[in-house]
Amino acid sequence: MIVKPADRTGNVQEYYFSQKLAQIDRMRREGSDVINLGIGSPDQPPSENTISELIEQAQKATTHGYQNYSGIPALRKAFSDWYKKYFHVNLNPDNEILLLMGSKEGIMHISMAFVNHGDEVLVPDPGYPSYSSVTNLVGGIVRKYDLDEKNSWLPDLEAIEQSDLSRVKLMWVNYPNMPTGVKGSMKLFEKLVTFSQKHKILLCNDNPYSFILNKEYFSLLAVDGAKEIALELNSLSKSHNMAGWRIGMVAGHSEYIKNVLKVKSNMDSGMFLAMQMAAVEALNNPESWYESVNSVYIRRRKIVEEIMELLKCRYDKSQVGLFVWGRISEDIPDCESYVEDILMKIHVFITPGFIFGKNGERHIRISLCATEEKLNEAKYRIKSLL
Ligand SMILES: Cc1ncc(COP(=O)(O)O)c(C=O)c1O
Repeated sequence: MIVKPADRTGNVQEYYFSQKLAQIDRMRREGSDVINLGIGSPDQPPSENTISELIEQAQKATTHGYQNYSGIPALRKAFSDWYKKYFHVNLNPDNEILLLMGSKEGIMHISMAFVNHGDEVLVPDPGYPSYSSVTNLVGGIVRKYDLDEKNSWLPDLEAIEQSDLSRVKLMWVNYPNMPTGVKGSMKLFEKLVTFSQKHKILLCNDNPYSFILNKEYFSLLAVDGAKEIALELNSLSKSHNMAGWRIGMVAGHSEYIKNVLKVKSNMDSGMFLAMQMAAVEALNNPESWYESVNSVYIRRRKIVEEIMELLKCRYDKSQVGLFVWGRISEDIPDCESYVEDILMKIHVFITPGFIFGKNGERHIRISLCATEEKLNEAKYRIKSLL
């Protein structure tokens, strides 16, 4: 290679799933029928009215130009109404909501907008890997904080306060939590807001899982005074079966949103109007739509729990979200090779917990984004292994 990549690429690795999906593709091309229970990409469709609106709008000659950088007013209003209805949060659609291409994009934009070189960022362990990799990319310093099963996978704020927090600029939280499936609570959010006010840390809740196998919708922004110190990301990827559409949002104080827009408006030029109009339809789905999606996940989760039991994993039945998280048996020496062995021998891919940090090392995560037929087939293959 003649040209050296930028130094920052040395601080990150290719995303684990990017490599793993390439391996699975290779195995499939070579004839293996791999069942992928790794990734949380919903396989059910968006609501019918969402799709018909997309088609109708795409057929118009007038929908194909550049769009407003923050999202069309109708979509910001739909997000605001959705937050009011389900999370009891008032958001001004004019300046407290910014449309994003998924919440993942928001992790980068928020970090670019608020983290200076050398600033510290509190990142959960276990946690979604992008919080750390993006912090590294923007020149911040990752400070992992433990989520421990003994503390119900909640942050121990007193323990975090034992160390010097004077250089911490940003803290990532994610409730309902991925990968542990812990729901969180308003009490937790109140404590987090008090903590971040005290230490002047921008608190960001990444909240894409509220609607999956969960009926209590909590938002960090529902805490009194939260907007002064906090942002929340949300997304249609999981809640509306629209992961490939790349539609999400960040909400919070208009001054924070303005700064995120400064970054984002230099990176893209708005989102296809037909998709935005269709997203308005999705956000207006009746509550019964979420129930019908969840009725499928309830049946799938039962099979995944049976798989967890066959694998002798310990897991909590009250988990919410798109996955089941379980602790592997103590007599398995190493989780990564255990999972690799399962993939190679019976062609079932399960996510090893180490990719979420050291506190995930003895765990696996199984996705509910596969049909009952596939899950039963995976269960059958796992039985053959025992
Ligand atoms: C915790 C968490 N945050 C963000 C994302 C990304 O979601 P989006 O599709 O909205 O970018 C995921 C997706 O797996 C996730 O698990």
